[in-house]
Amino acid sequence: MTGSRGKLFARALAAAAGLSLMAGVDAAEPAPAGPSVEALSFNCYTCHGPDGRSPAAMPSLQGKHADYLLRRLLEFKQGKGHPTIMDRIARGYSDEELADIAAYIAAQTPSTGERR
Ligand code: HEC
Repeated sequence: MTGSRGKLFARALAAAAGLSLMAGVDAAEPAPAGPSVEALSFNCYTCHGPDGRSPAAMPSLQGKHADYLLRRLLEFKQGKGHPTIMDRIARGYSDEELADIAAYIAAQTPSTGERR
């Protein structure tokens, strides 16, 4: 008795799992290979402000050229430019990721029309 009930329960579970799996596949976009450049850049906005527009003492990234941002990031990665924290952050990314992030941030337009 309990055996057949157990089987039924297991079958119901499997069906439910199958359903939710299918629903997941239907709803989801094709999975990206890694975090998008947008997601990577959002890490920087924690300190540098939304879209790299810093409201406080942190240097603003917005309005700076991608080549400049990348040069600074590569320097930080090598410990140059007297970094306090950026050396550790820059080392967390490949050179390609830093180039992508620099290009992405440089392409952002000011969200308030204000530039610092
Ligand atoms: C924990 C806070 C923090 C995070 C997160 C952070 N930064 Fe910084 N950033 C700083 C500080 C502080 C400086 C000033 C240099 C230093 O002291 O290391 C700086 C400086 C810079 C500069 C030089 C700006 C200039 O005008 O020369 C660039 C470029 C930069 N950061 C890019 C980034 C990018 C890209 C990311 C994300 C991958 C990032 N930062 C994440 C704190 C942060």
